[in-house]
Amino acid sequence: MGPIGIFDSGYGGLTILQDIRKELPEYDYLYLGDNARAPYGSRSFDRVFEFTLQAVQELFDRGCEMVILACNTSSAKALRNIQQNYLPESAPDKRVLGVLRPSTEVIGQFTTNHHIGILATQGTVSSDSYVIEIKKFSPQSKVHQHACPLWVPLIENNEHTTEAGREFIKKDVEKLLLKNKNIDTILLACTHYPVLKDYIETIVPDGVAVISQGKIVAKSLSDYLLRHPIMDSKCTKNGTVHFLTTENHVEFDKNASHYLDDSIHSTTITLPNKTR
Ligand code: DGL
Repeated sequence: MGPIGIFDSGYGGLTILQDIRKELPEYDYLYLGDNARAPYGSRSFDRVFEFTLQAVQELFDRGCEMVILACNTSSAKALRNIQQNYLPESAPDKRVLGVLRPSTEVIGQFTTNHHIGILATQGTVSSDSYVIEIKKFSPQSKVHQHACPLWVPLIENNEHTTEAGREFIKKDVEKLLLKNKNIDTILLACTHYPVLKDYIETIVPDGVAVISQGKIVAKSLSDYLLRHPIMDSKCTKNGTVHFLTTENHVEFDKNASHYLDDSIHSTTITLPNKTR
């Protein structure tokens, strides 16, 4: 038995953790941010897989029976490989879930004209995962994507509220909207982006909905645990949360306060390459 592991390349997964804790406060959580190697967005498939697998193994070794990849880039580039190749051989009773599937299942419910915009990292956009997955659940939808390679570095360095940072963000939103004038729903398909939601809402025309993933993922996890009572019984429930980072923990604690209402005391770890 153990906590639910929540993994992200850096701080973005904290936006998911926040909503998961609101939905499921009784569970224990272990958050891991690979801040030392963030951002993942422009890294190759092989590298994202390697780093994500190291993080999953670390969380398993620390007692997690289940890990949520609270990172779209990892979900798009590593999850399938981990689920199909690593878990059956090496950890058949453990589970790894992502943020992409829950979002693509429900995003069709938000649009009235079936034109959906996706803002994400370069890695997520190039994987085409959102285009492919949304078509499965909303076949009539037209999906328009735009990659924002500067947004994660801006957010990780807390420069997204500066005038220059806002100008970059505005330009990217405008580029997405120029792809099709009918876009009425924008999914923030990177877990870092919810910190920009209020600002993005001031840029988009009236009638365009800006959707972040936290509540969607939290509801999906809650449903999953109801449908999987054996996994649920393996998740400890004392309402605790602990934080691990691969960077300086003092820096992590300071920056994490921009994403969470709580004060945080994290621990620095290294992620060794484990061959299994
Ligand atoms: N939060 C990660 C995501 O959702 C950011 C990826 C990155 O590190 O570039 O994609």
